[in-house]
Amino acid sequence: MSTRDEFFSHIEKGYTTKGDFITMGAAMLDGEAVTDAYVKIPLKTLNRHGLIAGATGTGKTKTLQVLAENLSEKGIPVLLMDLKGDLSGIAQPSPGHPKIDERHQKIGLPFEAKGFPVEILSLSEQDGVKLRATVSEFGPTLLSRILDLTVTQEGIVAVVFKYCDDNKLPLLDLKDFKKVLQYATGEGKKEFAKDYGRISTSSTGTILRKIIELEQQGADLFFGEKSFEVDDLTRIDKNGKGYINIIRLTDIQDRPKLFSTFMLSLLAEIYSTFPEQGDSDSPELILFIDEAHLIFKEASKALLDQIEGIVKLIRSKGIGLYFVTQNPTDVPNEVLAQLGLKVQHALRAFTARDRKAIKLTAENYPESPYYNTKEVLTSLGIGEALISALDEKGRPTPLAATLLRAPMSRMDVLTDSELKTAIKSSKLVKKYGEVIDRESAYEILNEKIEKAEKAAEKEKAKPKSKSSRRRSTRQNPVIKVLTSATFIRGVLGVLKKVLR
Ligand SMILES: Nc1ncnc2c1ncn2[C@@H]1O[C@H](COP(=O)(O)OP(=O)(O)OP(=O)(O)O)[C@@H](O)[C@H]1O
Ligand SMILES: [Mg+2]
Repeated sequence: MSTRDEFFSHIEKGYTTKGDFITMGAAMLDGEAVTDAYVKIPLKTLNRHGLIAGATGTGKTKTLQVLAENLSEKGIPVLLMDLKGDLSGIAQPSPGHPKIDERHQKIGLPFEAKGFPVEILSLSEQDGVKLRATVSEFGPTLLSRILDLTVTQEGIVAVVFKYCDDNKLPLLDLKDFKKVLQYATGEGKKEFAKDYGRISTSSTGTILRKIIELEQQGADLFFGEKSFEVDDLTRIDKNGKGYINIIRLTDIQDRPKLFSTFMLSLLAEIYSTFPEQGDSDSPELILFIDEAHLIFKEASKALLDQIEGIVKLIRSKGIGLYFVTQNPTDVPNEVLAQLGLKVQHALRAFTARDRKAIKLTAENYPESPYYNTKEVLTSLGIGEALISALDEKGRPTPLAATLLRAPMSRMDVLTDSELKTAIKSSKLVKKYGEVIDRESAYEILNEKIEKAEKAAEKEKAKPKSKSSRRRSTRQNPVIKVLTSATFIRGVLGVLKKVLR
């Protein structure tokens, strides 16, 4: 048997699946694609998370596009975090290209051009379905993690939430939360101290400062109503294709705090909403996070622990998380260790640091008699990647340098008018479009304070009763002096002298 035939059966055997799967492309030997040696990912293991990494321009985003459209085709909904704004083209069919035909011929797959059902979402002023969450839904724990609070400060946040719960004060936006914090050390100090213990002004001051910092990153746009129902992410269109939900995040690059706030809230919400899946044949929803280093950048240890915990737990709900980033070292080791699918595009060896990263990356892949992993990592072409997945039993598949298929949809973005049409025809845009500002903690407390002030003024304005007059006489400084012990002693002394 020739090496090529041996390699073919090695790949065929390693990538055989009982259930349904997605074809990524064909495995390569000595830099050439081996036609029909398909690299297939079982749907069953897609909830085991993944990583798409590689130097700039090597094809990461197109790999994400390929995965997303093939998932949609299998009826699996997808959520894409589009940080560069280059994914909207997925709604339109590819115009095709001779190079694409050539690529597909080498792989042994016919090329089909098609568009996919897309929903455009937004976290900010941009058009699209508005994604929001209320502070109550966010909860005290996440809020404390995001604000990077100390244990004492976290305790205060918990008390504030409890107070609002007990007193039916809805915490919708950050304005509500700030108001309650100020109330707790201001007008409502006594009320708070009685039932919840004293709260220090210096602690609330720090918390307030941190909230303002978060607001400066645009978080005030995110917190509020109408809050997004994550079930809306799992829609299937009338042809059985999963919706591809694209969150446009082009204006969030310099606001990492807002991005991690949103990500955590979304993951926590998904985790609490989706039912336990058990051992399912296909995932419920797949999330792709492009430019993922942004959520790990500036994240505190507590926040990282939180992310790590969610990544671990969310799998059992049938949710797969895929991180897309230039260097695998951008992702913390604890998270990296939980990723089942690895698609590694070419890495560049410019500096000593690059070479170290390449060595580390190579060590994280299973060994293969057909490849020198370190060399392959630097010699892969555009749209080629080293793949290692999990088979249906959860074992790593053979390492495969893969010539990846091309996206069926457009690799370029939608035009402005195409984007407008997509947004206009969306049902969800209407559902989440209206801004609701119902009465919440801010208004209720302001009313309460106003009432208390009015009552105090009324009290002042009342004609003085006898008892209050008596009280006020006692307050009179002249009487005070006349009745003071020293004065009486003095008078007694003078009397004694006179009588003698
Ligand atoms: N699977 C593929 N099929 C066909 N062409 C591809 C494929 N992958 C990449 N390309 C080509 O390579 C170009 C760059 O790919 P892509 O935008 O995915 O790179 P990237 O790694 O995401 O880059 P960046 O780090 O700058 O975001 C594409 O515009 C496309 O022309
Ligand atoms: Mg990209």
